[in-house]
Amino acid sequence: MSSFPSMRPRRLRGVPILREMVQETRLSARDFVYPLFVTHGRNVQVEIAPMPGIYQLSLDRLLPEIATVVDLGIPAVLLFGIPRSKDAEGSEAYDANGIIQEAVRVIKQAAPELLVITDVCLCDYTDHGHCGIINDGAVDNDRSLDLLARTALCQAEAGSDMVAPSAMMDGQVAAIRSALDGASYTDTPIMSYSAKYASAFYGPFRVAAGSTPGFGDRKGYQIDPPNGNEALREIEMDIAEGADIVMVKPALAYLDVISRAKQAFTTPVAAYNVSGEYAMVKAASQNEWIDGKRATIEILTAIKRAGADLIISYHSKDIAEWLS
Ligand code: PBG
Repeated sequence: MSSFPSMRPRRLRGVPILREMVQETRLSARDFVYPLFVTHGRNVQVEIAPMPGIYQLSLDRLLPEIATVVDLGIPAVLLFGIPRSKDAEGSEAYDANGIIQEAVRVIKQAAPELLVITDVCLCDYTDHGHCGIINDGAVDNDRSLDLLARTALCQAEAGSDMVAPSAMMDGQVAAIRSALDGASYTDTPIMSYSAKYASAFYGPFRVAAGSTPGFGDRKGYQIDPPNGNEALREIEMDIAEGADIVMVKPALAYLDVISRAKQAFTTPVAAYNVSGEYAMVKAASQNEWIDGKRATIEILTAIKRAGADLIISYHSKDIAEWLS
């Protein structure tokens, strides 16, 4: 390998046109999935305080948002629901007339070409805010599986194009696959939140969804942040259970995990650029402490460079606008 002075890496950096031609990673609006928070009622559009530009929307207000997403060339949305009321078993999650099921029907009718992905979890729907049901003060893994499978099936029946289990219950992908297959939804893919860490970066989401656990935390079921091998093991298990896409979440503090997952497996890898990552960029840029646009592009490019095939991001609309 030649070195200085015959090699001068700066030669390719001197002019924009060459820099662009040797650019290794390029973002496209088609890489992105835009998360949306849907709620009951009419004419509701409540901004989520720590997430400027992101709203809880009632179904009538959702439609213009969907039109914008389609116009911007964003191919997919990921839906989260805020139920009318919460209970111990999260029953609105698997109610055919639940908010998510209604939202799916409304969106598929308005924009059939938009891929509608639905989050499969109980935490938005339970009064205790945990991702499964509680038995003796702890989340009961196996009893929660039935309800998660019912939720996924109910979403598929409403027209969801892809279900995305995020509860971190062991065996959830297998339980969902078998429920879907048993009802002839063999073609409905599963995007599993396989490597979901017990992260501080979900704080703003929990404000948005009202899903902060009422007692304890999620460390008993989400991955401990120091662990990387464990994430690969989770991903491997989910692939074996039938996951079609695997996810690493959050993204920015786990770029090594994204990269390892991409190298270790051939299954497509999604990365979730979560609420806290969004909030930090927005807060700093509103204070003019960083250039928000440049920082956003840099972060999202890094997530793609690390190996993400799909990026779930609250910045999707911004980035699609900047790229167009
Ligand atoms: C539900 C779920 C969470 C997120 C996505 N699905 C929250 C959690 O585990 O507390 C977080 C997304 C974000 O922070 O943007 N289990």
